[in-house]
Amino acid sequence: MSIVLENKFEWEDYAQSFHSIMPAVMVQLNQFIANELYGDIIDYGCGAGKLIPYLNENASVTSYTGIDFSKEMIELANSVGNCHSNLTTQFVHSDIMLTALPASDCAVSVNSFYSWPKPNDIIDKIYQDLKPGGVFILATLLKSIDMVKLLEEAEPEFINHDYWQTFKSHNLKIMDNPGINLVTITELCDLLERFDFNILSVDASFYDGGVGLVKVRK
Ligand SMILES: C[S@@+](CC[C@H](N)C(=O)[O-])C[C@H]1O[C@@H](n2cnc3c(N)ncnc32)[C@H](O)[C@@H]1O
Repeated sequence: MSIVLENKFEWEDYAQSFHSIMPAVMVQLNQFIANELYGDIIDYGCGAGKLIPYLNENASVTSYTGIDFSKEMIELANSVGNCHSNLTTQFVHSDIMLTALPASDCAVSVNSFYSWPKPNDIIDKIYQDLKPGGVFILATLLKSIDMVKLLEEAEPEFINHDYWQTFKSHNLKIMDNPGINLVTITELCDLLERFDFNILSVDASFYDGGVGLVKVRK
């Protein structure tokens, strides 16, 4: 229960603008991740379901379960799921730590880790949920992120979008949040190895070097 109370990020408020804006760097990241996944997938901190349209194009994916403790995010993810009929989807509105989930072939978590007050607890939970031999992809903002530059680069495409200013100010607010946990790619790898995950690949080039992605096997 403490996880919910300690989380200092206000995702409800962020959901609609986040759902509506998809800069090129986000497309690249989600497309890449969707191609790496297979079987029954659990998305930890799924937000508005940005992975779903890309998973829908991957025939080796059997089912998708998204879990998120923001009601607004889950409702939006559900509506995205309903538009993509190739994929069997289900959504869980809960804190990751408070819900027993079925064993999965693949686990994924995209840009949620940096907001976890107790990342070790959540990584351990993901480890326990995964089938032996299962794959986990963890992607998160790195210490090297230059959010101002990324927003400047995206601005020409979205300047007249209804949600652009809100999206921009929310992303800047995230960077100023005292609870943010930015890591280096080495710290991320070390943490995953402490849980007995075997590293399969590492990439710190997403978001112009501001997002790290580590793919591991249990
Ligand atoms: C920046 S959003 C990213 C959403 C999505 N993964 C994406 O990349 O589009 C982070 C999400 O993690 C969720 N989240 C953070 N901690 C969580 C927890 N302990 N349990 C469930 N959801 C959590 C938040 O509600 C939020 O929707």
